[in-house]
Amino acid sequence: MPHKTSTPPAGATNAPSLGFHGHIDSPKEDEVHENEWYRQFHPDYSVAETPLHTPSGVHIIIVGAGAAGLNIAYKAARQFAPGEVTFSIYEKNEDVGGTWLENRYPGCACDIPSHAYQWTYAPKPDWSSYYAGSEEIWQYIKTWAVENDLLEKVKFGHKVTRAEWDEDEGIWKVQGVDRDGKPFTDEGSVLASCHGLLNTWKYPDIPGIKTFRGKLMHSASWDQEYDLEGKTVAVVGGGSSAVQIVPAIQPKVKKLIPYLRSPIWITAGFGSKYAAPGGGNFQYSQEQKDGFRKDAAHHRQYCRELEGELNKRFLLMHLHSDDQKVSRDFVADSMRTQLGNDPRLSTHLIPQYALGCRRMTPGSDYLSSLRRPNVEVMIDSVVGVTEDSVVDASGRETKVDVIVFATGFDVTRPPYEIIGRNGRNLGEEWAEFPKGYLSIMAEGFPNMFYYIGPNGPASHGSILPIVEWHTRWMFKVISHMQRTSIKALAPSRRAVDDLQIHTHELLKRTAWSSACSSWFKNGKKHGPVTAIWPGSRLHYFEVMKEPRFEDFDIEYFGNRFAYMGNGFTSTELSENGTAVWYFDILEREQAKGTTAFWDIEA
Ligand SMILES: Cc1cc2nc3c(=O)[nH]c(=O)nc-3n(C[C@H](O)[C@H](O)[C@H](O)COP(=O)(O)OP(=O)(O)OC[C@H]3O[C@@H](n4cnc5c(N)ncnc54)[C@H](O)[C@@H]3O)c2cc1C
Ligand SMILES: NC(=O)c1ccc[n+]([C@@H]2O[C@H](COP(=O)([O-])OP(=O)(O)OC[C@H]3O[C@@H](n4cnc5c(N)ncnc54)[C@H](OP(=O)(O)O)[C@@H]3O)[C@@H](O)[C@H]2O)c1
Repeated sequence: MPHKTSTPPAGATNAPSLGFHGHIDSPKEDEVHENEWYRQFHPDYSVAETPLHTPSGVHIIIVGAGAAGLNIAYKAARQFAPGEVTFSIYEKNEDVGGTWLENRYPGCACDIPSHAYQWTYAPKPDWSSYYAGSEEIWQYIKTWAVENDLLEKVKFGHKVTRAEWDEDEGIWKVQGVDRDGKPFTDEGSVLASCHGLLNTWKYPDIPGIKTFRGKLMHSASWDQEYDLEGKTVAVVGGGSSAVQIVPAIQPKVKKLIPYLRSPIWITAGFGSKYAAPGGGNFQYSQEQKDGFRKDAAHHRQYCRELEGELNKRFLLMHLHSDDQKVSRDFVADSMRTQLGNDPRLSTHLIPQYALGCRRMTPGSDYLSSLRRPNVEVMIDSVVGVTEDSVVDASGRETKVDVIVFATGFDVTRPPYEIIGRNGRNLGEEWAEFPKGYLSIMAEGFPNMFYYIGPNGPASHGSILPIVEWHTRWMFKVISHMQRTSIKALAPSRRAVDDLQIHTHELLKRTAWSSACSSWFKNGKKHGPVTAIWPGSRLHYFEVMKEPRFEDFDIEYFGNRFAYMGNGFTSTELSENGTAVWYFDILEREQAKGTTAFWDIEA
């Protein structure tokens, strides 16, 4: 560990010129001080010839060029001065967009209103429909990335395989392979893992799956060239993906066999107040789109109303709230009606657990499609596959041409090895019961920001504004680190333990803790809720307003006060600096009726 001051801060200068006072020379090394006491010196320390809070350069390694990774690149260019923060972005795919590039199954769409599934700073006035399809969302992300010169910053076809923290140097050492199998390495003091919470798919470990001679597809890896016309198709799974696939392919296929082993609440879409009757989708007219384009204030008001709707759901998520009871009865009745009061399907598909325990799933034509003549619903688990059939837990073997696995994603571990302090392996530690910090950091893994990590607002409405808050918080932490000689920072064990206790005591009250199997509980029916924030969406945003540095274990580059530098402030050294900036604050506060320098940043 270096003892001498800090890393060279960006913009360091040895002979500061005083913007409005004149010029001084730095002290000479061989100078003999006239005061004898000051002839002693500290061999491990020398004052940095830079003003207070001069930022040291930080290099961020970003894994993933989905919405989250790209947002970091976009914001970094705007929120840091040139050179303060640099970054590399590695993306395993050949294009941006993550979720919306990969998930192209029939019917794949957002179930959040389009005008809320966008960056708050990049509103799109001409969404084609209330709930946009996968391709249109991808196009939105891609167009925004192109317009903001983000593509050239991404190393496509580069898959990160390992990141290891080097305690001595205070950096993450990253390894990977490119599209040709050629290894690459990189180093940076910060790791931003934006690999996507719902990105790692694989076929389930079902015996015989490799022997199947027909067509095998996963919802996240759809073969868009393949024609399902006239085929007998099994769809395994009854989660959000299957709920969109089933009604989309039912009219096309000869026979459809959904394997729905678990019930799920089928609701109206999110923000249904502004949707079509019954919570369904609708197309915006050209007139509406023109109206949004021409009148930004009108568009903004519309976006505010939709977003506001999404932020009002937390009461409903309480196990014992009236909202929960009334909505649950209402949705159960609606499901029964859509199922034509079919006793077998109603008993099996209407859940006994709380509404929202698994992600509520909008599906306007889903339940009615299950009753169509070419559909036969199976209610048992799929336990085997032969060369031409699916075998379920009742022993029934059903011949099919195609098997679609809509069986979800592996959320138990990151898609690459992350090694923290003392060789600790994040994937191993989090496999059973992940314990993060504010859904973005982890104890023992310094300077690592893990996007949409454990216990985040993963079921609280549109993810994009949440990602914006992650980045805002991360930048506040980084900015503080680079201005205060911090080399490494991670939440302390005690802070994480305290947060865990609070999290699960609070979650006990909520529908998410009900007994249903869900990826919110790492696939378990009974167990801790590992994916969900213990509060509302607005609650999360407020918590994330300011980092709590008292929660961190901090290592410094030598002397923690090295950042104080040469005793000047940047303002004093700047040509345009003002020597009485605090008067301006005072005047602003006086205008508001306060005089306490409360709003120091204002
Ligand atoms: C089918 C589906 C529908 C969804 N619908 C909604 C919705 O309606 N509303 C909502 O809010 N959210 C929805 N989500 C969640 C969605 O994932 C997020 O909204 C958002 O897209 C996440 O963005 P991201 O950048 O964090 O992750 P992703 O979009 O998953 O991007 C992650 C990127 O990281 C890359 N990557 C992963 N591992 C590596 C590696 N080792 N090396 C290099 N690159 C790597 C991936 O290739 C990918 O491009 C949905 C998810 C799915 C799967
Ligand atoms: N538009 C949208 O907003 C949208 C669309 C798609 C996905 N998503 C996001 O992606 C997440 C994942 O959705 P997903 O539907 O892909 O996955 P999922 O919700 O995890 O559902 C997987 C389904 O597969 C079933 N399954 C697994 N193995 C099985 C087997 N051997 N036999 C029978 N069934 C089996 C599961 O049953 P059990 O429950 O019994 O384990 C479950 O019903 C969603 O929660 C949501 O966050 C969003």
